[in-house]
Amino acid sequence: MKAVFLGPPGVGKGTQAAQVSQRHGWAHVSTGDMLREAVAAKSPVGLEAKKYMDAGGLVPDEVVIRIVEQRLSRPDCGRGVILDGFPRTVAQAEALEKALENGGLDAVIFVNAGDDVLIRRLSGRRVCRACGAVFHVETMAPKNKGLCDKCGGELYQRDDDREQTIRERLRVYKRQTAALIDYYKVRDLLVEVAGDREIREVQAAIEKALTERART
Ligand code: AP5
Repeated sequence: MKAVFLGPPGVGKGTQAAQVSQRHGWAHVSTGDMLREAVAAKSPVGLEAKKYMDAGGLVPDEVVIRIVEQRLSRPDCGRGVILDGFPRTVAQAEALEKALENGGLDAVIFVNAGDDVLIRRLSGRRVCRACGAVFHVETMAPKNKGLCDKCGGELYQRDDDREQTIRERLRVYKRQTAALIDYYKVRDLLVEVAGDREIREVQAAIEKALTERART
């Protein structure tokens, strides 16, 4: 299975991609996570990416395409791969087509929800500094406030989850990424899943869509 999880910031792509890839033993390739790791490591890519991420904009295509090409060449991607947050522009989608010459994509799962839901989810999100697990202060609260259920690490709020940056990310999504909905529709790869439901319901809809696409 080679699938893209597409959708606006905060809709739950990362939450769903982590669960689906773990269940099936597929690689979870999140450009947001890879870029945050590069920022934390203060690598040249991280130093370049940070200014765009802090402002809520997109990191330049050539930077993101390079890290995705490198990641896809690793052996664990051979069993299956879920791309989370990539592609985000038509140029990235075209680069992905070239990188996946052998058979291309099986599905693009477009998870969607309204801005009010997205803003609530992003402003309440908390992430574990140690293992990256994602929580929400209301809908997925940790058992012990401020601490990760999985490893006991400290939970923090992402810098780009402040209200002003959230609004800019939503604008950037509409301006630069939403065009991919039509791009994949005409290629008959797009399956839309309503994201404004409970995590388990969204998960069931995604599993059903992936199973159907695997048969075609
Ligand atoms: P990235 O990390 O990819 O950010 P994003 O796309 O904005 O997505 P998010 O991680 O914010 O949200 P999500 O949809 O994964 O939601 P989540 O599951 O966490 O990218 C960050 C930045 O990196 C970008 O702004 C850009 O600068 C750069 N970048 C990354 N990729 C790039 C690319 N390809 N090109 C250029 N630049 C790139 O859920 C959100 C919250 O909601 C959580 O708290 C969760 O617990 C909760 N939640 C999830 N589902 C539900 C549900 N069904 N019900 C209730 N709560 C839920």
